[in-house]
Amino acid sequence: MAPGMDTRAFRLPLPSDTAVFELDEGPVLAEKQAVLDDERAKPICRRIQVPVNLTEDSWPDTLIGAGFDISKPAIFIVEGLSWYLSEHENAHVLDHLADLAIMASRLGIDMVHHDYLENLAMAPFFELAATRGVYCKFGTNDRGVPCRSWLARRGEPVRRGGETVRSLAPARNLGGRRRACCRG
Ligand SMILES: C[S@@+](CC[C@H](N)C(=O)[O-])C[C@H]1O[C@@H](n2cnc3c(N)ncnc32)[C@H](O)[C@@H]1O
Repeated sequence: MAPGMDTRAFRLPLPSDTAVFELDEGPVLAEKQAVLDDERAKPICRRIQVPVNLTEDSWPDTLIGAGFDISKPAIFIVEGLSWYLSEHENAHVLDHLADLAIMASRLGIDMVHHDYLENLAMAPFFELAATRGVYCKFGTNDRGVPCRSWLARRGEPVRRGGETVRSLAPARNLGGRRRACCRG
């Protein structure tokens, strides 16, 4: 979910019959593909790009239409997305994921602390982002691991999916070469 310039399908030792679906905005996926083509990069497994707007309700059908098999367990990674969506939009994304996930599926998600969004040291970054139409809207100050308690408070994905994925692959992506653009 919202992989931007991330390259998990190229850098993780995944079984070759794994299908990696990348759901992001069309222009971002196109920019990424241009970089990958320049590099002549070959994915380790099957990689399917799915241009979508994750704030719209149509993306689950688009994902299924692209070949996502709802009868099989999946790992859903929602990394670096939640702060660009409102709390309501985040909840909606998770509702859709809960519908797509069967038992043995896993969810990995990150969220920022709400105070971070109001930190004066971050203000220049957020102001610059806003000039580019990028707005950081959501963070949570829940105690403990914030996204765990936010998820637990919501109930559904944790209860239906069983548990969250703790260790995500360390970030190493193409962002240093070309900047991914983000829209809230
Ligand atoms: C900060 S990047 C995260 C990239 C990567 N997951 C990572 O953690 O390095 C945020 C990504 O969210 C995507 N995004 C933001 N809002 C979106 C939306 N409404 N629908 C689809 N993708 C969205 C942006 O295009 C961008 O690629």
